[in-house]
Amino acid sequence: AEAFFQPADLCNVKIAITAGPTREAIDPVRYLTNHSSGKMGYAIAEAAAKRGAQITLISGPVNLPAPANVARINTESAEQMHQAALEAATNHDIFISCAAVADFRPAEIASQKMKKKSGEDEMILRLIKNPDIVASVAGLTRQRPFTVGFAAETQDIEQYARGKLSRKNLDLICANDVSQQGQGFNSDSNALHLFWADGDKALPLAPKHDLGQQLISEIIALYKEKLD
Ligand code: CTP
Ligand code: CA
Repeated sequence: AEAFFQPADLCNVKIAITAGPTREAIDPVRYLTNHSSGKMGYAIAEAAAKRGAQITLISGPVNLPAPANVARINTESAEQMHQAALEAATNHDIFISCAAVADFRPAEIASQKMKKKSGEDEMILRLIKNPDIVASVAGLTRQRPFTVGFAAETQDIEQYARGKLSRKNLDLICANDVSQQGQGFNSDSNALHLFWADGDKALPLAPKHDLGQQLISEIIALYKEKLD
């Protein structure tokens, strides 16, 4: 019912959001990826669009329809997502990095399907680091958006999340305890703990749609606080 009473109070706010996994090619028929469903990022995009915000959703390969009133840009690799994110970042007020970006990609993409070699029972794939998309956006010196990251952790949540907050120069980080059942990757529910320079707030386990609405409210409050 809340949808009927939601004010379109974010008409003047432009938000870019990355969501889903990336896909890192090995050869023409194979790739490396992860279990990200994109549901959290899409829920955030939908929640913000319902409040009238102008949304650009930069999405890795997922099985989700674009939410209403959202401009979607489809990407596959981290390098493609990086390029799309940097192009979008400077004309958006807020950047939310929800994507599960592959940390590494194959050093070389074979141009033909890789074949087994007779007599070899192992093969070694060399990986190189991908660009850190959210750190590149937060590092912009001109037209830098208010920058929000996520942190997927299985232990020492606050310590690791705050480490990422400061190392990547973020305004806010949303920590996700991925060791807990029923939250995080591919789940319909999630719990988050938000950390920023001089505060923190727990958002308890809730359907990703509800959490998306709460998260947008928290992000907007901190964004406005910084503008003042
Ligand atoms: N991120 C990104 N580009 C990357 C890696 C991560 O933009 N190449 C972003 C994610 O979208 C997220 C944040 O950085 O908002 C933290 O991602 P996470 O995987 O938790 O942290 P990493 O910095 O990759 O560190 P690690 O995986 O080693 O914990
Ligand atoms: Ca990572």
